[in-house]
Amino acid sequence: MLTKLATLIERSQAAVVLTGAGISAESGVPTFRGAEGLWGKFKPEELATMEAFMANPKIVWEWYNWRRELLSNVEPNAGHTALCRLESYFEQFTLVTQNVDGLHQKAGSSQVLELHGNIARNKCAECNRQLDSGITIDPDNLTPCPNCGGKIRPDIVWFGEMLPEDTIDTAFTRTRQADIFFCIGTSALVHPAATLPVAAKASGATLVEINPEPTPISEIADICLHDKAGLVLSQLLDCLKDRSVA
Ligand code: OAD
Repeated sequence: MLTKLATLIERSQAAVVLTGAGISAESGVPTFRGAEGLWGKFKPEELATMEAFMANPKIVWEWYNWRRELLSNVEPNAGHTALCRLESYFEQFTLVTQNVDGLHQKAGSSQVLELHGNIARNKCAECNRQLDSGITIDPDNLTPCPNCGGKIRPDIVWFGEMLPEDTIDTAFTRTRQADIFFCIGTSALVHPAATLPVAAKASGATLVEINPEPTPISEIADICLHDKAGLVLSQLLDCLKDRSVA
């Protein structure tokens, strides 16, 4: 199957990769769904909505500070690194992520389209101004926005909120241009991100899924590799490298 995929890659010019929490699982970052997922232990409606934040910013900030702390101790894994190297096999390569952990950028990927924001950044909940990342937020004594005095929140797309318009538009444009689309480590349950692989298939791209578990995308995918992303992507890169040397 990897040999077949390597041949398809060599024949493709434009690729889009969509990643979800599963790509960071091998770095020790918890996913959202599944047995050990965050949404099994915490309620999204109490932590990841504007209503929850306005009602109880302290709890919301305690949770995001805990996640920031967790992320400060993790490194990109073999999957992130392999995706960086995969860029060079295409004329056009677009990495779209639902992750907010910044690990693709830390691994060296260029031009990452972040659909759901970035946990390291802050913005004002009222005037929407982007604020310096790295401000430590004290949940008991929130720093007011320097522009309007409003409450500072993490720059994450919460449930019920719109995705950054330019980013999702670019993701769809690149998807429609793609010869090959990789759907990696996502349960493909959250839209509009989960619509991207469907749009890719409808535009004639070869659809590849890498995920240890089946998802709604498995049924329409041309190639399903049911294993961990770090493992599959490293093997794929080795296969491509061997072929280019031969
Ligand atoms: P999920 O937690 O819904 O799904 C993670 C997927 O990763 C599952 O399908 C797992 O089978 C798979 N997985 C686990 N380990 C893996 C590995 N080593 N390699 C490859 N795949 C693996 O995460 P997302 O699909 O990213 O939104 O969730 C989408 C959105 O829902 C998130 O961006 C988040 C959440 O609510 C926001 O925070 C706005």
